[in-house]
Amino acid sequence: MLPGVYAPQDDTELLAEALREVAPPPGARVLDVGTGSGALALEAARLGAEVTAVDVSRRAVWTVRLNAWLRRLPVRIRRGNLFAPVRGRTYDLILANPPYVPAPDAGRGPRGRSLAWDAGRDGRLLLDPICRDAPALLNPGGTLLVVHSALSGPDRTLELLRAAGLKAAVIRRRWIPLGPVLRSRADWLRRRGLLAPAEDREELVVIRAERPC
Ligand SMILES: C[S@@+](CC[C@H](N)C(=O)[O-])C[C@H]1O[C@@H](n2cnc3c(N)ncnc32)[C@H](O)[C@@H]1O
Repeated sequence: MLPGVYAPQDDTELLAEALREVAPPPGARVLDVGTGSGALALEAARLGAEVTAVDVSRRAVWTVRLNAWLRRLPVRIRRGNLFAPVRGRTYDLILANPPYVPAPDAGRGPRGRSLAWDAGRDGRLLLDPICRDAPALLNPGGTLLVVHSALSGPDRTLELLRAAGLKAAVIRRRWIPLGPVLRSRADWLRRRGLLAPAEDREELVVIRAERPC
C-alpha cells in the first residue's frame, strides 16, 4: 500500500460484511466509489462481479491497480471525482465508504491524508452528493451500500435516499473506540453537541438502499 492511502479499517470491514450478505451474483456490475486500497472492489471481484473502482487519489489508484494485479483479479480502475469517471454507466451494486468525519473549517478543504476522512463541518461533503447522484446510477432492483459514522447524520442519508425513490434502512451498526482523528477533535465535536461529554466511542452504520424493479 502506498503511503497516504487509507488502510482498511472497521468501516471497511463492516461494509465488506454487508457486501457478502448481499452476495452479488457472478457478472453483476459493481461500482466501488472512493476505493482506497481497493479492499472492497477486490472482495466483489472475488465473488465474480464485474467491478469498477474509482478514487480521486492518484496513490489510491496505483495501489488498487497493484493489489488487483497481485491477486490476479480483474478490476476496472478510474481516477476522478465520485461518479464523474463513470458517467452514463449503471450498476447492480454501488459500494461507498466515503470521507465522513466532521471537521473544523480547514481553509481550502481536505488535503493530503485527510482527503480520505475529512468531510466538512457536518461530515456530509461527499455523503450528500452520493445520496443525490447514486440512485440514478442503479439498475432497476440495484442496491447502494454506504457506511458512515452516526456522527454524520444517518437520518439525513435515509431521508435523501428515500426521497430519491429508494427503499432504505440501516442494516448494520457497530460501536468502535474513537480513533486518533476523532480524539484530536473531541472537544470541538462536544462543543457542537455531536459527541456526549463522556463518550469515547463512535457508532458506525451501514445503510442499504434498493431501487425498486
Ligand atoms: C474512508 S476511505 C475508504 C477507502 C476504502 N473504500 C475502504 O473502505 O477501505 C475514502 C476514500 O475516498 C477517496 N475520496 C475522497 N474524496 C473523493 C472524491 N471526491 N471522489 C472519489 N474518491 C474520493 C479517498 O481518497 C479515500 O481513498
